[in-house]
Amino acid sequence: MYDPLAIVLAAIATLTVVLFSALKGTGWEPNPDISEEVMERRATAVPETEFPEPGNRAIGGGGGGGAIPAGGGDGEGGELAEGAEEAAGPGDIPEDEIEHFEIEFLKQGETIEVANNETILEAGEENGWDLPYACRQGQCVSCAGHITDGPSEDFVEHDNQQMLEEAELDDGYTLTCVAYPRDSFSIETGEAP
Ligand code: FES
Repeated sequence: MYDPLAIVLAAIATLTVVLFSALKGTGWEPNPDISEEVMERRATAVPETEFPEPGNRAIGGGGGGGAIPAGGGDGEGGELAEGAEEAAGPGDIPEDEIEHFEIEFLKQGETIEVANNETILEAGEENGWDLPYACRQGQCVSCAGHITDGPSEDFVEHDNQQMLEEAELDDGYTLTCVAYPRDSFSIETGEAP
């Protein structure tokens, strides 16, 4: 025989449990959508490349004309709107303003004359020396050299060098592939900070 009191009590207990769990929910809540935040953080953390890839140049490249290799090829790329001024790099010097400086290559034991529209690396190569390099765009340190006379930027102008910090430049380090002489000096090639 069933005890009616027990049945009523069981029903009440069951209802209480059902009601309680319905009110309380599962406690699960969806995580907030942080995808945008993550994308923004990545966008600020990843430096923009300044390699002269066609796509990068098309959107401005961040470095402006500095991303265009020294010499600018034959200047018929047609990327600049007519009338727009192409940013001149330190190697874009009119013929009548070209000067030469005496650069002493200490490891090679020779002093050569280098024009102010020519990089130290090019000048050394033209002289027949096998100097180190990789990118030739100021974006690695393969071509680094050490100017022994003082802060490198007192003696050369860099065309968009990306790698050396202020203190290293002050110590005399230079990236020879993008360094144009502005005075005479002595340099040890193949010396990175
Ligand atoms: S060769 Fe890469 S910075 Fe000069």
